Amino acid sequence: TINLKNRNFLKLLDFKPVEIQYLIDLSRELKAAKKAGTEKKTLVGKNIALIFEKTSTRTRCAFEVGAFDQGALVTYLGPSGSQIGHKESMKDTARVLGRMYDGIEYRGYGQDIVEELGEYAGVPVWNGLTNEYHPTQILADLMTMLEHAPDKKLQDIAFAYLGDARNNMGNSLMVGAAKMGMDIRLVAPKAFWPEPALVEQCRAIAKETGGRIMLTDSVEEGVAGVDFLYTDVWVSMGEPKEAWAERVSIMTPYQVNQNVINATGNPNVKFMHCLPAFHNENTKVGKEIEQEYGLKGLEVTEEVFESAHSIVFDEAENRMHTIKAVMVATLGE
Ligand code: CP
Ligand code: NVA
Repeated sequence: TINLKNRNFLKLLDFKPVEIQYLIDLSRELKAAKKAGTEKKTLVGKNIALIFEKTSTRTRCAFEVGAFDQGALVTYLGPSGSQIGHKESMKDTARVLGRMYDGIEYRGYGQDIVEELGEYAGVPVWNGLTNEYHPTQILADLMTMLEHAPDKKLQDIAFAYLGDARNNMGNSLMVGAAKMGMDIRLVAPKAFWPEPALVEQCRAIAKETGGRIMLTDSVEEGVAGVDFLYTDVWVSMGEPKEAWAERVSIMTPYQVNQNVINATGNPNVKFMHCLPAFHNENTKVGKEIEQEYGLKGLEVTEEVFESAHSIVFDEAENRMHTIKAVMVATLGE
């Protein structure tokens, strides 16, 4: 039997395939129980700290609703307002919060920061996104894929990730796919492929699990026959605004538009995105970039985002069920 009690959840590399599958199965059980009105509270009396050094909609709300559904209470520590990062080290913060809280979520910059928090807190620490990894997002993505491919196991699923393949999403999707024996194609300009050391590590994992990892700069080659297309923003949180100029020109061929949908050869292909997405001018950044570079949509077009292919809001909902499962598995009574 699988027991994740008191474990940190910092990156998927730390978990066995059966443990990842267990978290997905638990997420599906918790989702079904919530919908049926039969959810049992396993976190009553627990206090949870939510540290966000970067902004968030989904991740914060998923942790809060997941905790409340399970009977826990939360404290939100936003990008400003605590001593973190200005006056107090993460090592000291970890030891303070560990005395008061039963579990700690951290979203911020380097993976080394969340690893240090996890080392010194003495209570479970969960990674809510770092520059390198976004592991709770991958649980939601894999769960959503299974829901939309009901006759398949993860091992039977092929998907392509287009765009910035060396950011937290590219890295974590590659690790998740390798662990679960999936067929992943990272479709990106060569300069935006993941670090060779991580690719090598994932290829070694894939060898054990039957997974396949393709790195290609050819959209046609990468998307042929896939079940799912996935993309993310071209410039991530924490990167300088100046990065847009270079990114827009180099990434435009990797925009997910109707031509890419057609190139899959799969009329039922589904479109995924961790969100937030720039698909029209309805955001401040989207408007500025679109106007400056004369584009219609950035990493995805409005047409694809709003089409029947798009399952992005199922994916967003599943952030809550999967994050709840991580808290229940590591902290639940
Ligand atoms: N996908 C995701 O992590 O969204 P937020 O930045 O809104 O949390
Ligand atoms: N790569 C994006 C993901 C947001 C959920 C970022 O880090 O900003």
